[in-house]
Amino acid sequence: TGSGGLLRPVVLVGMMGSGKTAIGRALATRLGCGFVDSDAAIEEAADCSIAEIFARDGEAFFRARESEVLSRLLDAGPRVISTGGGAYLAPQNRALVADRGAALWLDADLDLLWERVRHKSTRPLLRTADPRATLARLLDERRDIYEQAELRLTAQAGDSIDRTTDRVIAL
Ligand code: S3P
Repeated sequence: TGSGGLLRPVVLVGMMGSGKTAIGRALATRLGCGFVDSDAAIEEAADCSIAEIFARDGEAFFRARESEVLSRLLDAGPRVISTGGGAYLAPQNRALVADRGAALWLDADLDLLWERVRHKSTRPLLRTADPRATLARLLDERRDIYEQAELRLTAQAGDSIDRTTDRVIAL
């Protein structure tokens, strides 16, 4: 796969359930460039799941691995990179992305995010007594940060992956 005409990596950021992985993969296929998911890269390097890393080594350890992986992925040429929902929060990660790539925020409202994550148990941060309230709090805390992304696409409830990818390309 080539660069798909991209001059810099495109880095998808946003909340859990915003569609970063699904849209990222579809976008890369459409552009004819490579695709990589930072969570998957972390799991591969650690040879265990994100949930296991959180449980065994804690969130701070995960965040350190996440920064390393992001930096490495940004250095490997133009392609589409999807990230975990917390990857854009650390100022040094945002600076890296701004310097070497273009951040695209996949914005979505709480109802849509919750619909997408409610049936999955893979996300350690949502293993709380009231995961919907946790998701709402994270969205509140993070919105202003995601807003710093160069590009923003607001997901619409009925939109297919194809339709959303069309809108990303138009952007
Ligand atoms: C996280 C999001 C997850 C994963 C980890 C932490 C977050 O990725 O990186 O569970 O802080 O929002 P997704 O956004 O792909 O679910």
